[in-house]
Formats: sequence, C-alpha cells, structure tokens
Amino acid sequence: MKILYHGHSSVEIDAMPGSLIIDPFISGNPLSRTKVEDVMAEFVLLTHGHADHTGDAIAIAKQNDATIIAIYELAMHMEKKGAKAHGMNIGGSAAFAFGRVQMTQAFHSAGYLDEEGEMVYAGMPAGLLLTIGDKTIYHAGDTSLFSDMQLFGSKIPIDLAFLPIGDTFTMGPEDAVQAAEWLNAKLVVPIHYNTFPPIQQDAEQFVQKLAEKGIEGRVLLPGEHMTL
Ligand code: NI
Ligand code: MN
Repeated sequence: MKILYHGHSSVEIDAMPGSLIIDPFISGNPLSRTKVEDVMAEFVLLTHGHADHTGDAIAIAKQNDATIIAIYELAMHMEKKGAKAHGMNIGGSAAFAFGRVQMTQAFHSAGYLDEEGEMVYAGMPAGLLLTIGDKTIYHAGDTSLFSDMQLFGSKIPIDLAFLPIGDTFTMGPEDAVQAAEWLNAKLVVPIHYNTFPPIQQDAEQFVQKLAEKGIEGRVLLPGEHMTL
C-alpha cells in the first residue's frame, strides 16, 4: 500500500478499498505541500481534538462524503459540524472498508478550539493501531512515552510505527527511541516535529539513534510517500 506523509502528524494511506487520512492538518501547516482540495479519502481518522490534528478534517470529510473516525466526544462534535462520524473509545476496535482500527491510550490533553473560540471537551486523546491487509501500523498520536507500548509490541508484530519526536508537547527523540524499542516496530517514521519553532528536531539524528539500537527508521518529508 502507498503511504503519503503530509507533514506534522498527517499520514494518508491508500488502502484498497477504503483510503484514509490521519490527522489532516494541512492548510494550517506552513510545511505542507498538499492542497486540501486534492485529498481523496473515504475515512478521516483523528487521534485527538487539537487543531494541529483536526485541521482540515471537516472540509476533507465533506468534499469526499467521508466518515470521520474519532473518540466518541470528538466524533459527536464533528457530526455537529455536519460531517459523518463514527465514535469509538480507548481499547475498542472496529472494522471498516480498509481494515481494523483499535483505539489505544495516549497521554496528552484534548480540547477542541471551536470556531467561536470556545474550548470544547474533545474526549481522551488516542493512538491508533491499524490492521490493513496483513500489515499493522501504529500511529501514536500525541503522547508521552508509556510502558504499555511494550504490550502493543508483544501482542502484535508492528510493521510500521509513526512516533512523535517534537518534544515540548509530546515525547522527544530520546523517549521515542525507547518507544520504538518497546514497540519492536520493523520500521519507525518520526512525526510531529519542525512544524513550529518549539518542536524543532533533527529527524536524521533520530534515525541514527534508532540505527544504533538496531531499529530501522526513515524520515519522510512533507509530500513524500513510501510503500509498505
Ligand atoms: Ni495535541
Ligand atoms: Mn499536536
């Protein structure tokens, strides 16, 4: 399958059937090279309610008649904004056209800043364990390091993990290396860095640190894709 990185935490997966995009923060991202109008997806998956993740979710959902998959409270809010939404919660899994989603915990916060400037409760922040065909992909969302990542890694072989390395708002590179070890992921792609000054990181150095632990890492630039 083709995996396209849109910058920050946004990843598009062209699964057959059922293409999906995770955390489509595109028009607000100074580093993104994608046009929101060009995004075609049947599903929009959100890890949590912060604006640098929900971004263009409603626009993309509406232009594609796509379903937003998010934690219950956030899903309800997206529905209120006129998008189709499917609510889930931590630990639960559900099947969709592309495969299975299990929502995992993430240690973070999750208010949704409404258009009226009001902070709306957006439920718990989450990570996503996706099973698409014979591949398992883990998108950690925004989170600190937590030792249950060992549990995910021992429960199911993870082919690809997207891990935040930006620090300040999520784990930084050192903790992300530990996360990669615990997840026992075959390939790790860093996300959530360089978009804004407080999350500036050297992603190549992170990949080097992974290599020292015998873990394969790969930097994807915004607009770059890979096949899995
Ligand atoms: Ni966040
Ligand atoms: Mn974030």
